[in-house]
Amino acid sequence: MREKIRIAIDGPSGAGKSTIAKAVARELGIDYVDTGAMYRAIGLKMTSRGMAMEESEALQKMLDETDIDFRSGDVILDGQVVSDRIRTPEISMAASACSALAMVRRKLVELQQKMGREKSIIMDGRDICEVVLPDAELKYYLTASAEERARRRTAELIAKGEKVNFDQVLADIEMRDYNDSHRAVTPLRKAADAEEIDSTSMTIDEVVGYICSRARAARA
Ligand code: DC
Repeated sequence: MREKIRIAIDGPSGAGKSTIAKAVARELGIDYVDTGAMYRAIGLKMTSRGMAMEESEALQKMLDETDIDFRSGDVILDGQVVSDRIRTPEISMAASACSALAMVRRKLVELQQKMGREKSIIMDGRDICEVVLPDAELKYYLTASAEERARRRTAELIAKGEKVNFDQVLADIEMRDYNDSHRAVTPLRKAADAEEIDSTSMTIDEVVGYICSRARAARA
């Protein structure tokens, strides 16, 4: 059996990447790295410090002093658990804004590549197939229609007890899709060598089962 396997998943917001990647990681017994959570952590830190969403010496200094890690499913920013605080609509927008900054991407890509160097992992994000893990054994572009993604996100937020409005969630998703695919630095797009999975009419289990079977075949 091949010792190491790296699975890269890119795709737009709300396509189910993290739910699917988490389940695949559990089933294959490998680590999961949620790179979106890392951009959210930086968005949270910039917001809480009242920093402008632009490149500056202060931002570089802040990034140099920032540590982001994952521990038993939690996101740890400078030693503190921030898993819940990074999931608000405000921080979603901050993450999208800071992810357009080259300084931020440089720092996080470096951290992510380090995480992918030693062990088997599944990593999801926007630039994983082409930039972070260009030599990953398996590469996927996971998508779903904007309406279906907004339906899933609305249900998720309602389950958490938040007050949400479907039209607002859909508008936010469309705005983030636009920002993420039109930014100058590594815009979101499907890598030429990634396989596209459209999950609009697939269940989570179907997608997880498909990726796991491909991973088992690649490891055999
Ligand atoms: O997947 P998510 O919604 O948690 O991601 C938050 C933001 O970070 C999103 O606007 C896109 C950005 N992002 C990115 O630019 N590159 C990644 N590898 C992961 C996320």
